[in-house]
Amino acid sequence: MIVLGLESSCDETAAALVEDGRRVLSDVVASQHDVHARYGGVVPELASRAHVQHVVPVVQGALAAANLSLSAIDGIAVTNQPGLVGALLVGLQTAKALAWVTGKPLVGVHHLEGHLSAVFLEPNPPPLPHLALIVSGGHTSIVRVDGHGEVTELGATRDDAAGEAFDKGAKLLGLGYPGGQVIDQLARTGDPRAVVFPKSMTLGEHGADMSFSGLKTALLTHTRAHGVPDGQALADLCASYQAAIVEALVRKTRRVAASEKLRHVQICGGVAANSGLRAAMIAAGAEDGFTVYVPPPGRCTDNAAMIAAAGYHRLRRGEHAGLDLDAKPTAPLPRRAEAS
Ligand SMILES: Nc1ncnc2c1ncn2[C@@H]1O[C@H](COP(=O)(O)OP(=O)(O)OP(=O)(O)O)[C@@H](O)[C@H]1O
Ligand SMILES: [Mg+2]
Repeated sequence: MIVLGLESSCDETAAALVEDGRRVLSDVVASQHDVHARYGGVVPELASRAHVQHVVPVVQGALAAANLSLSAIDGIAVTNQPGLVGALLVGLQTAKALAWVTGKPLVGVHHLEGHLSAVFLEPNPPPLPHLALIVSGGHTSIVRVDGHGEVTELGATRDDAAGEAFDKGAKLLGLGYPGGQVIDQLARTGDPRAVVFPKSMTLGEHGADMSFSGLKTALLTHTRAHGVPDGQALADLCASYQAAIVEALVRKTRRVAASEKLRHVQICGGVAANSGLRAAMIAAGAEDGFTVYVPPPGRCTDNAAMIAAAGYHRLRRGEHAGLDLDAKPTAPLPRRAEAS
């Protein structure tokens, strides 16, 4: 089954063709980072406009790269929730139009289910059930994955997402937007013990929940007192800030992996590209006895191959959406009662 995936929930317009939820035939992403960089964050109206400009070319690009015509596809999967509603609508309307003209089945995909599916495009995906740490620009959750699309949230951030902490920290340090990758790069040559950010800032009060807004304030207070450094001191500050985020993510994940008795852990979403997080989680897994799975960096951030992979399982189960399929700006994951 060849599925055309479409993604437009934030600032990437993407289309991909994936066979049987496993084999990527093509994967095209048009990023809008240049459009939003000078505003220090995504401007929803500009995002919608850029999606309109890019959506047809990325679909044509995905078909051309796979050397296939529209008639070769067996179904269409599109991100319909959660995200910027104007941005989501562009991908959704395109998917509906394509489903209508081709007569192929359409299915809506939850964006985070997409992130969770990216690792299944790799040669050795995690077995089910497993634990997943979803860390992206808008979300930070620890979830139990019992099957494709069967997800229970066990912990989450109470305020900012980890990606937001990276981006807002980078903005404060004058490192541009989105800044996660720049902090990651600078942190490689920095000393993570140079600046002490108290652990209580990121760990939150509740079992598997986290908090990142206090850390951002601590960085602001630090720069007000000492100024924004450069050279080695900037690398040290980035390394310390990143270490505080990573420590909270790893500590909570290993705690939940132990209590759920799960020996396979995947990390997904844009922040899963962070080299410090990847290394720390692998080290924790080696100590605690769990195996870590992470998609390659290009499949951690938004792409449509992950949406096609997630959609494949829904289509195979016979799920078909009508042309009344709606876009939803918010769509919380189901949460286990005792964890809330
Ligand atoms: N190497 C890295 N280290 C840390 N953060 C990173 C790295 N690479 C990307 N990021 C962060 O990943 C985020 C983007 O991820 P993603 O594309 O999954 O988010 P999103 O789609 O905007 O949000 P969501 O998936 O929650 O809707 C940004 O916050 C970016 O700074
Ligand atoms: Mg995303």
